[in-house]
Amino acid sequence: MKKYYISSLLVAATVIFSYCNSAKKATAIEIRPTYENGVASLITTHCTPCHITEKAGKKKAFDNYVNVKMDIDEIIRRIELSPGEKGFMPFKKQEKLSDSTVNVFKKWRDQGLAEK
Ligand code: HEC
Repeated sequence: MKKYYISSLLVAATVIFSYCNSAKKATAIEIRPTYENGVASLITTHCTPCHITEKAGKKKAFDNYVNVKMDIDEIIRRIELSPGEKGFMPFKKQEKLSDSTVNVFKKWRDQGLAEK
């Protein structure tokens, strides 16, 4: 009887824990994006290789917090342009970033540009 009790407790704890955990993961970036929990990986996905240190050349490297923070207004301005407009980023792509991706950058700026 005791064994049964303990194992059902364990099951319940596991269910509750994993529920909280995944709920947290799904919303953390929506509630409060930081450089580390969202912005950095969006840049790695969408701005590679042109803005990554070794390849950047004369372009700004955006694989570090300081540069991204400094240029955030210009970054947002450019990703809100439409393909074909002068200055549009990601350079030469046919499609804009999705609204939800652009919103992560905007929210990050509006909430104070936290690193972590
Ligand atoms: C295929 C290469 C390429 C990709 C991918 C790319 N860029 Fe650029 N980016 C460039 C080039 C080339 C320039 C310089 C020409 C210009 O200013 O338009 C530039 C310039 C910029 C500038 C102005 C500062 C500077 O470095 O001169 C910003 C801001 C910028 N890009 C943001 C972004 C962001 C944000 C992304 C990802 C969403 C991105 N770019 C993806 C090639 C790229």
